[in-house]
Amino acid sequence: MSRVFFNSRNSLSSLEKFLVSKPNSKKFILLDQNTYTHCLPTLIEGVEQLYGAEILEVEAGEQSKSLTIVEQLCSAMIESSADKESILISLGGGVITDLGGFVASVFKRGIQHISIPTTLLGMIDASIGGKTAVNVGEVKNQIGTFNNNSLTFFNSEFLKTLDGRQILNGNAEMIKIALVKDEDLWNQMESNPPISNEGFIERCIKLKMDIVENDPNEEKERKILNFGHTIGHTIESIALSRQEDILHGEAVASGIFYSIKLSEEKLSFPKHKANVIYNYLTQHYNIFDLKQYKDLILNYLAADKKNINNEFCFVLLEDIAKPHINFIITKQDILNL
Ligand SMILES: NC(=O)c1ccc[n+]([C@@H]2O[C@H](COP(=O)([O-])OP(=O)(O)OC[C@H]3O[C@@H](n4cnc5c(N)ncnc54)[C@H](O)[C@@H]3O)[C@@H](O)[C@H]2O)c1
Repeated sequence: MSRVFFNSRNSLSSLEKFLVSKPNSKKFILLDQNTYTHCLPTLIEGVEQLYGAEILEVEAGEQSKSLTIVEQLCSAMIESSADKESILISLGGGVITDLGGFVASVFKRGIQHISIPTTLLGMIDASIGGKTAVNVGEVKNQIGTFNNNSLTFFNSEFLKTLDGRQILNGNAEMIKIALVKDEDLWNQMESNPPISNEGFIERCIKLKMDIVENDPNEEKERKILNFGHTIGHTIESIALSRQEDILHGEAVASGIFYSIKLSEEKLSFPKHKANVIYNYLTQHYNIFDLKQYKDLILNYLAADKKNINNEFCFVLLEDIAKPHINFIITKQDILNL
């Protein structure tokens, strides 16, 4: 199981201690140009053991989650004499931690990975649970691994340079976890502006860690974390194929919106609670208009990894914190949205 070090202030000294215990390991830091500028100085200043680490820089953005980049990174590591004892440190958002986690899990059949999430989405979601992935063309996360050889160091200092759009991006995943697991957290989030509140962040991290620990291979409970994601991923794929600018959390916010609509229809999700959720989502996010893209949505849904016997499998809610997994949704249900 991957381990998480929570304490914001002490997490870099915990990392330092860990690296002191690995004096013979070559260290690589994977980052993008933004985390190079905004996060690397804090990391190097806080962790002496990383002076002289090799820097592997990729372009910021989803296009870096590709097998081509994986091959380039492996080549660069081989050229720098990386071996089984080497350590790959991912310093960045979900793109970097997904990519770095994947490379670390396949390079020489697996080397130690360290995840240092620097976006809100990365902290509360992407860097917990060991899932790694790269995209195939515009279809997201088609190749991946479960990487259990990963440590996560969480330091909210890094959030200070994130812009409001990126905060909202992570906030969508926080809403998701609150809706599937913790009604009290949802009520508090819903009545506060979406800011990077450390208390809420820690609660979300703990909720996700508990779920992942109970079901590391996503056989049962972990599937609830896909709430809002079936439609969310198809929206992301459509946007990528049209070179439109949409963030994962923005797509998930729309996915949550439509999943609540389906939940109302299929599981009698309480109308008054649904209205509060719709209000919150429309206030903070642009809800993607599905009607324009019905054919494309159906095509992308057909490729969803979660489908069973060619049927669309959704997570829906009977109520807040009462999720149903593997709920079969038909093409007609989608066309009716
Ligand atoms: N593995 C999982 O379980 C999991 C879960 C959710 C999402 N994901 C993946 O995560 C990815 C999205 O992650 P993301 O939203 O963090 O995107 P991202 O990694 O692209 O980061 C967003 C932007 O913020 C910049 N950035 C990062 N940290 C910064 C900082 N501290 N200051 C200023 N700028 C900074 C990045 O350079 C980038 O431009 C998607 O690929 C998604 O599939 C994975």
